[in-house]
Amino acid sequence: MITLTGLKLKNPTILAAGIMGTTGASLVRMANEGAGAVVTKSIGAEPKEGHPNPSMIQLECGFLNAMGLPNPSYDGFLQELEFAKNGSSVPVIASIFGGDADEFLRVAEGLSPAKPDAFELNVSCPHAEGYGAMIGTDPYVVEEITRAVCDSVDVPVWVKLTPNVTDIVAIGEAAERGGADGVVAINTVRAMAIDIATGYPILGNRFGGLSGSAIRPIAVKCVYDLYAALDIPVIGVGGVSGWQDAVEMIMAGASAVQIGSAVSGGVGVFGTIADGIDKYLDENGYTGVEGIIGLAHEVI
Ligand code: FUM
Repeated sequence: MITLTGLKLKNPTILAAGIMGTTGASLVRMANEGAGAVVTKSIGAEPKEGHPNPSMIQLECGFLNAMGLPNPSYDGFLQELEFAKNGSSVPVIASIFGGDADEFLRVAEGLSPAKPDAFELNVSCPHAEGYGAMIGTDPYVVEEITRAVCDSVDVPVWVKLTPNVTDIVAIGEAAERGGADGVVAINTVRAMAIDIATGYPILGNRFGGLSGSAIRPIAVKCVYDLYAALDIPVIGVGGVSGWQDAVEMIMAGASAVQIGSAVSGGVGVFGTIADGIDKYLDENGYTGVEGIIGLAHEVI
């Protein structure tokens, strides 16, 4: 059991936003499969179709996606969130997005009747015009949005950060100043793939975000830097597919890890990683995960 921004998690693995989080039933399934907490698909103020297909492809080093934040709006998602909350024994975190503080607020207030255990603010999707990283690269905007949501909800607020910036720490500090209870690092890395038979970009949106093992070292460095600079917990995400990756992320400074792309290899991944972490802790004489959080900072 760990305590993360006041939430009790049976283990430090969390389903990442956008993966199996579109329906209440799939969120409950991930909880039953062993996730310590689950995060919904990012939800906005109005229904959104997303980018044209192909919106996701597999590469040799991970996945490239440009979904374009498709979602049914907070109104259309409320029942799914209620289903997830009623059916799940683990914290359910609502991922939300908006184009400015007012829109974030509207979504947070719209979903609040379903009583999510926390909100995760998506200021980091790398391919949605007017949303995500388009606003999440400006520390003033991130601080303003975070403050607006924190002031209006009575549950923890996490802010998911983009790595597509010169200095992720400056954005993390802005979230912390705005009152965030934790930051999540990292969202996908802006990327593209081209079909050499035709010369066309493969994704419908031309470019998208890279996830999977290729981005893990980038995520580890971002987590490491954020842990050194912030007083709030850092939740690590990016290419974690085995317990060794999770331990590495935790040693960089993560208090918990989110799992996204690796779910494609089987939904048992949460239990496998959680068991592996426990075994590692036992074998190395640690009584809990706190014993290794940020351990890499102690080594000179
Ligand atoms: O397009 C999407 O729904 C992805 C969102 C994200 O990367 O945050």
